[in-house]
Amino acid sequence: MQKDVNNLKNEALAQIMEADSLDELEEIRIAYLGRNGKITQIIKSLKDLPESEKKATGVIINQSKNSLIDAINSKKNHLKDSTRRWFDASIPGKKLNTGSTHIITQAINEISVIFERIGFIRRRYPEVEWDWYSFEALNFPENHPARDEWETFFIDTKSDPKFGSMLLTPHTSSGQIREMENVKPPIRMINIAKCYRRQLDISHYPMFHQFEGLVIDKDINITHLKGTLDYFAKSFYGQGVKSRIRPYHFQFTEPSFEVDFSCTVCLGKGCKLCGQGWLEIGGAGVVHPDVLKAGGVDPKKYTGFAFGWGVERALMMKPGLNIDDLRTLYSTKLEVLKQF
Ligand code: DAH
Repeated sequence: MQKDVNNLKNEALAQIMEADSLDELEEIRIAYLGRNGKITQIIKSLKDLPESEKKATGVIINQSKNSLIDAINSKKNHLKDSTRRWFDASIPGKKLNTGSTHIITQAINEISVIFERIGFIRRRYPEVEWDWYSFEALNFPENHPARDEWETFFIDTKSDPKFGSMLLTPHTSSGQIREMENVKPPIRMINIAKCYRRQLDISHYPMFHQFEGLVIDKDINITHLKGTLDYFAKSFYGQGVKSRIRPYHFQFTEPSFEVDFSCTVCLGKGCKLCGQGWLEIGGAGVVHPDVLKAGGVDPKKYTGFAFGWGVERALMMKPGLNIDDLRTLYSTKLEVLKQF
């Protein structure tokens, strides 16, 4: 009797395993566990067994019945699941909405990597800054008209007896002094940060980004600056792009220059975008001895060069980007953002 039960159970389990529809599974259940099912019949015949066998056989029948019920249920779930998981591979997939880094963040990352490759270290300095770091220590005497060009936002709060007014830093050059205070030469810093000025038009925005390079070491001269400019031009815009420097004036560098790159579109031949073949990127120069002194660096021992450019400007000079209004970069329209 017990052997019969076992055989029946195995037979049923094999059928359950093979079943490939819910209907078929139901038929199997009825055939074994239904009112006239094979297992049910055996249960009914239990009463005819001798008393000594009744109990042990009863236990085995119960176990078999339960294991069939379990097997049927799990197969049921499996069949339901696999109907759900079936998919038509020829139907085009649904596109997930995924985010991406903003185009300016992408540019900042690219710029960081380019300079890190030649030993510069990325730094961050305060956006809310003192006059001392943004102007005074950079050789702008108080009331000097050059300060007007920076269109600074001042913070309406008490000024500090030593550091002067509190302001939103109008350029990353403030990081030059902070870096000299933090690190003894040799210095190779790239400070990329938000800057603020009271300006708004096609090429200016009240909040923008600059990247500031500062190199201070023994025997640093203009050729090191020129080499760095050419290296950046080629890395960021492509091998065909060169740099040139033109004399200019900044308070914190002497000599000072404006830096141009050969047009990234016509590679210097002259076109609608550049006119004569060159695009202006920003300022640079040899760090003024007074600035070194203000940062605690001995100008008799060390010299340095610096440059400071707009991230947005550098980005908009990339060929093929075709963004002619800087404000587009700050658009919140998905049609714009999704392109990058
Ligand atoms: N800070 C200047 C500006 O915002 C740019 C600049 C010019 C930075 C010359 C420099 C430099 O480091 O050497 O317009």
